[in-house]
Amino acid sequence: MGLPDGFQWGVATSAYQIEGAVGEDGRGPSTWDAFCREPGRVRDGHTGDVACDHYRRWPEDVRLLAGLGVDAYRFSIAWPRVQPTGRGPANPAGLDFYDRLVDALLERGIAPAATLYHWDLPQPLENDGGWMNRDTAYRFAEYAYLAAERLADRVTMWITLNEPVVVTAYGYAFGLYAPGRTLGLAALPTAHHQLLGHGLAVTALRGRGARAVGVTNHYSPARPADPSAPGDRDAADAFDALMNRLFTDPVLLGRLPDLAVQPDDLAAHVRDQDLPVISAPIDFLGVNYYQPTWLRAPAPGAPLPFDMDAAPEGHPVTGMGWPVVPDGLLSLLRALKERYGPALPPLYVTENGCSFPDEPGPDGRVDDDARIEYLDAHIAAVRTAIDEGVDVRGYFVWSLLDNFEWAEGYHPRFGLVHVDYATQRRTPKKSYAWYRDLIAAARTA
Ligand code: GAL
Repeated sequence: MGLPDGFQWGVATSAYQIEGAVGEDGRGPSTWDAFCREPGRVRDGHTGDVACDHYRRWPEDVRLLAGLGVDAYRFSIAWPRVQPTGRGPANPAGLDFYDRLVDALLERGIAPAATLYHWDLPQPLENDGGWMNRDTAYRFAEYAYLAAERLADRVTMWITLNEPVVVTAYGYAFGLYAPGRTLGLAALPTAHHQLLGHGLAVTALRGRGARAVGVTNHYSPARPADPSAPGDRDAADAFDALMNRLFTDPVLLGRLPDLAVQPDDLAAHVRDQDLPVISAPIDFLGVNYYQPTWLRAPAPGAPLPFDMDAAPEGHPVTGMGWPVVPDGLLSLLRALKERYGPALPPLYVTENGCSFPDEPGPDGRVDDDARIEYLDAHIAAVRTAIDEGVDVRGYFVWSLLDNFEWAEGYHPRFGLVHVDYATQRRTPKKSYAWYRDLIAAARTA
């Protein structure tokens, strides 16, 4: 199959999206618990209170992982389980859960890949400003230390942050996700504070013996709506800098990109020794890819240096309405190699997947052929990138289970396994069997 030895096939989930049990074993409230309770924030008032009940049903979910034959499982650790107020000593009962999960994975030969922050900030830290507050970066490093103290002897890969751009843009700039703030460009310090938290956490994790440490970013290749229009090309560059480079240049190059927006919003928050901390060497870069973004020149006086445009005609769309563009993943992997050259560590596609309104048919089967087609095309793009010399070491499908899709609640279904939320019954979809067979074939090839 043209894949390097040791290539890791995996699936990914995150704590708030699957665990439920939000008041169990001393877990404290997170920003998402609070956000879900605000009327109108999440579709149909859905919350993560129960989610997939993974906190209780994890042995069944580990069996599903083993049945797939994955090499690795990417999950996230809930900060409010480890430090219920975001500060102070570890809550041992919260860590026990991940301790058992990690052991169960290893017993099945599955490498645990733990994300430390997949958006569930302890609410007491948000009350003090959340990621607008520089102190949160230090709190994050402390939490990373506590998690590693318990788990670093067994966790194979550590991912500090998941998609900091989404926290900055959706969480603090536009108010679409927790904590629901609408600061616009004044949210930029949250980018720097998350990156600082990442850098400090890298040092904390290594100090506790963590093996491989990296960070996962969301990348959306920027495409000018009209490639022959200079204004659209500039808009694409500005989007690229803010959405893609802002979260990667500091880590890999030790400097901020040129942002084409009021630079003071950010630069004033960057202290002397911050960039060397943020650019501490990492062992891998996690890449999440869903779709490219098409950009147009902004209207005069618009707050942002770009306008987002609809995808051009001709692309099929997922249940989220997102265009299916596998060559976007290929161009992204190529662009990372070109842009960062020798500074680029090995890559893992830590998320890629799609939602469709999958429901069991009369025979009880969930025939999600559109997902199979989607995954097949994106995996082919990864293979092409590897053939061209991009160092991609693994691929994780988002997601193992249908789960709580943030502001969209339980409506989108991203899983290889269907979840009936009324009964918590899990039904592997056709794509589950397809992925299992693909992994088995890749292994014998
Ligand atoms: C990512 C996120 C995941 C999942 C996925 C599908 O941005 O990390 O938690 O929700 O998108 O929308």
